[in-house]
Amino acid sequence: MRNEDSSVQATFNNIARRYDLMNRLMTLDSHKNWCRDVAQFASSRSGSSYLDLATGTGVIARAVRELNPSAAIIGADFSESMLEMARHIAGNSSIDWQYADAHELPFADGEFDAVTHGYLLRNVSDLDRVLAEQFRVLKPGGVLAALETSPPAGLLGPFIRVGMRVVVPTLGTLIGRDRDAYKYLVSSTLGFLSPEALRLRFHQAGFVDVQVKPKFMGTNMIWTASKPG
Ligand SMILES: C[S@@+](CC[C@H](N)C(=O)[O-])C[C@H]1O[C@@H](n2cnc3c(N)ncnc32)[C@H](O)[C@@H]1O
Repeated sequence: MRNEDSSVQATFNNIARRYDLMNRLMTLDSHKNWCRDVAQFASSRSGSSYLDLATGTGVIARAVRELNPSAAIIGADFSESMLEMARHIAGNSSIDWQYADAHELPFADGEFDAVTHGYLLRNVSDLDRVLAEQFRVLKPGGVLAALETSPPAGLLGPFIRVGMRVVVPTLGTLIGRDRDAYKYLVSSTLGFLSPEALRLRFHQAGFVDVQVKPKFMGTNMIWTASKPG
């Protein structure tokens, strides 16, 4: 694993215990609705096998379970602390929680009907490899649905940037008890690709029907795409 990835891994191991609460505060409790939208699109193919990458405490995996009571669902992450939290949440026992680095997935080609993830892409050191891995493990015709942050743009962009730089580390100090981790979250969001640039990377990985829906004044995006059938 590259140094950048080990440092991201250590950050998420440190903040796992208070991560869900911080997420609810930072998104004004919208995160779970966006995760439901991601799960809804992933379930549009009515498949039998689902992979939720960077699952964290498993919010998306749980939403997929609600829509697919008998499907096989894997929630994968490279933070053991996050996986430990996921394993102990009520209602999570029917999901298979596994350690996996998104750069090198321990799954067979064409294993899944749908791959989902939330807030993965801006954290990885090799985006193209991560997208190629997702493409590889999807069945032909399989779908991808993902939630990702996006650098604020437009007229309000500069104001939202300042707001994020102030509010998120403050919450991170008071509630998350780790100011640096939440400063990282802001800098990784502000420094991430524009939607136009990310769309191109999805296409370069082989995905088709790439669509994006902005949420929360364009600071969050829901991405959907398919592997050709
Ligand atoms: C911000 S959390 C999001 C958790 C969850 N998807 C959600 O929406 O609440 C990001 C997660 O991505 C995981 N992650 C980051 N880079 C990863 C990688 N290369 N492989 C696997 N997981 C990764 C972290 O460990 C962390 O649990």
